[in-house]
Amino acid sequence: MRSRVVVFVLVGACVLGVAQGAWAADPWRDPTQPPAQRASELLVAMSFDQKVQLALNNFAAVASFGVPALANFDGPSGVRTTGTTSFPSSQTLAASFDRGLAYDYGYAISDEARGKGFNWWLGPAMDIARTPLAGRQPENLGEDPFLAGETVTQEVLAAKARHMIATLKHYVANNQEWERIGFRLPPTGATRSPGINVLAAERTLQEIYEAPFKHAIRKANADAVMCSYNRLNGPLTCESPGLLGDLKASGFNGFVVPDFIFAVKDPLAATLAGVDVPGLPPGAAGRTAAMFTSGQVPSSRLDDIVRRILYAMFDSGIFDDPVGPANADVSTPAHRDVATRVSTSGMVLLKNEHRALPLSERAPRSIAVIGPSGDDAMYVTGGSAAVPPEAGKAVTPLAGITARAGSGVQIQASQGSLGDVPLPDIVPATALGGGLAASYWNNGEFDGPPALTRVEPTVDLSAAPTGIGPNLWSARWTGTLTPPESGLYRFSLLEAGIARLYINGQQVASGYREGINFVAGPRYPIQAAVQLTAGQPVSVRIEYTSKAQLFGPQIHFAWQPPSKSLIPAAVDAARGADAAIVIVNNAQGEGMDRSTLALPGDQDALINAVAAVNRRTIVVLNTGGPVLMPWRNRVEGVLEAWYPGQQFGTALASVLFGDSDPGGRLPVTFPASNEQGPAPPSQPERYPGVNDEVHYDEGLLVGYRWYDATGQRPLFPFGYGQSYAHFVFRDLHVRAQGGALVASVRIANVSNRSGSVVPELYVHYPHSAGEPPWQLKGYDKVALAPHESRRVSLTLDPADLTIYDGGPVIPQGRYRLALASSSRGFAKVASFDVRGSGIAGRGHGGRDRGDDD
Ligand code: BGC
Repeated sequence: MRSRVVVFVLVGACVLGVAQGAWAADPWRDPTQPPAQRASELLVAMSFDQKVQLALNNFAAVASFGVPALANFDGPSGVRTTGTTSFPSSQTLAASFDRGLAYDYGYAISDEARGKGFNWWLGPAMDIARTPLAGRQPENLGEDPFLAGETVTQEVLAAKARHMIATLKHYVANNQEWERIGFRLPPTGATRSPGINVLAAERTLQEIYEAPFKHAIRKANADAVMCSYNRLNGPLTCESPGLLGDLKASGFNGFVVPDFIFAVKDPLAATLAGVDVPGLPPGAAGRTAAMFTSGQVPSSRLDDIVRRILYAMFDSGIFDDPVGPANADVSTPAHRDVATRVSTSGMVLLKNEHRALPLSERAPRSIAVIGPSGDDAMYVTGGSAAVPPEAGKAVTPLAGITARAGSGVQIQASQGSLGDVPLPDIVPATALGGGLAASYWNNGEFDGPPALTRVEPTVDLSAAPTGIGPNLWSARWTGTLTPPESGLYRFSLLEAGIARLYINGQQVASGYREGINFVAGPRYPIQAAVQLTAGQPVSVRIEYTSKAQLFGPQIHFAWQPPSKSLIPAAVDAARGADAAIVIVNNAQGEGMDRSTLALPGDQDALINAVAAVNRRTIVVLNTGGPVLMPWRNRVEGVLEAWYPGQQFGTALASVLFGDSDPGGRLPVTFPASNEQGPAPPSQPERYPGVNDEVHYDEGLLVGYRWYDATGQRPLFPFGYGQSYAHFVFRDLHVRAQGGALVASVRIANVSNRSGSVVPELYVHYPHSAGEPPWQLKGYDKVALAPHESRRVSLTLDPADLTIYDGGPVIPQGRYRLALASSSRGFAKVASFDVRGSGIAGRGHGGRDRGDDD
């Protein structure tokens, strides 16, 4: 063995010697040198003019040095172009609590991107889930900075291994869509105000919102960061010297790129503040050569820009391994297998009574599959992260279940509900007493006397009426609706802007939408469901402002009267079946926020109706985030499937029938009501903001930290999820080792099934630290065979205990540590001390804390 190593070293030295000779004239080409050195060497070789051209995104001007052009793609969950795999949402990946899978996901996406001729990934995204209403929660990595940081670290390491620049986004405090890109400004609406101003304390930013970025920079040396649309404590993040200066001082060697055109209002200020690549799509984005030649931007800053871009190219490997031309189809069976595994490993079993699942245990002879389960299932989020399955490429839930069930099982599909889609029928004038009184304003605020009033048969506008807007306007419609029949009415507003629907004076629907959809993915209607009585008129009011719209104002008022309900047929199907699988969904993504956690439309009613006739009702949540579950005690099973991408049916069937264990644990707390959590709608200054400002005055108490500190009991806690197997944690030991702390626990699978378990390690700081009660600082994903028992070690890196108290510090004193199955499911607790720069072993065998689960 020893002689082999010597031979290897000698061969290596020999290759190196030849290489250095070959690259003597242009030393930056020598791949054996550190990236920073190569960047410095190439910087010295460039003329002032060439540097300016690179800073203006003119790669042709520096091609002779071997510098490749940057070619970027969206987004966090796959490559948004044709011939690629539609992967599960990134939130699904976070739910897997599986570092190995995170690496595979990052590698597969990078591999497909290279096959498409891209070398620069506009992902992953790691904006903390501050409010579950945030539209982009599905494309991010949950509410906990440690989980997000560990997950993204693996994605970045994988991207580098496949020679891809990964971009951490969006820096920072980009936690809602509402007003993220500002509102259209009077008088014409042709320009927009800057994005919402987030007011947050430095400690909150450092410990919660910046933490996953800095984690991935520290652990994976990430090569790029995207600054966000919002303002932060005043300036736009992309124009904030303090924010970007701190980022760069924290050990970040790569480049900063701004989000799309709204992120920078003043290109000179952005350049001086620290934006390196000027804009998206690649282009000068208002940056000019004169900024550099006039001395407005000092030459030291120009060198910094160029050095950072070059560093990222050398460090990621894209300089030495340039991409080739794009291939037509880059989706491989191996990539689709990654998609399936992420989906099964990220599905979270929230409830399972009377062995409702897996289906194979009390094998049903007939199964009713209810809800959108074909091409109308919700495969992906919307927006720049959307990579919808191409026609014919998705394994639908129905197809997956049917194939797995086999010919001996009768499958009956029933639509049950249309799900979260715009309803097909515009509310007719006949139901509206002939029409509604319409008032239009030529401003976005219903300000002053209306510019136009008239009676309109209904609300169905794809543009403003003549003389109004066209970009910035507001409108109100009022009148009476006389229900032609009794029962549950669905209403939807498909609109681009901010709209509210009132029935009988009650607000029944509202929403922020930048478009009726966003770039790709599902459409974003707002929904209501109201019980009405035949012949009993109710008042109707719709209010609309176009100030938030991005792609053109429009608004359409549609309904589904009771006689068109799909629920009765689904109840019939469920009544005769041995088990009923009810798939429900919501459409969520970039450019919209939800306004309620309730399932949209008639889906709660559908579940209630099915559960009333079939005890073995299993609800599959095909949602972008938490939903309320008023029917929770009436169904036997609840499985959160998130947005699973094109392998939906394969993954779902595998979990439902027990071929795969449901491997997911919640990366976000599921609230028990709209009013729970740190930023409930009743506190508009916290969300969505008042007067263009949103206050993060809950501080560090984000996600489960809030629930623990305030004693709120969520519907399901962070980190929660069941397995088909059963596990017990025994015999916790903690010991100091090489400055770190190793917590080891024996985990036994005490069931006859194989399954996976996620030991979660939470830390309680000394009281003087002023930290939230408990915080995740370690986890692992462990697969155990039936009755297998294994000792598992989790290492706590002291750097992960760093807090921000005027600067980074590791608080001294006595800590507690909990080994848990969720943020509320503590099995064992122990303690340890931090003295000086290291952890002192003071661990003892854990005792049960006996918290609820
Ligand atoms: C999104 C980014 C995305 C960019 C480019 C923006 O609207 O916020 O995440 O990378 O568009 O498509």
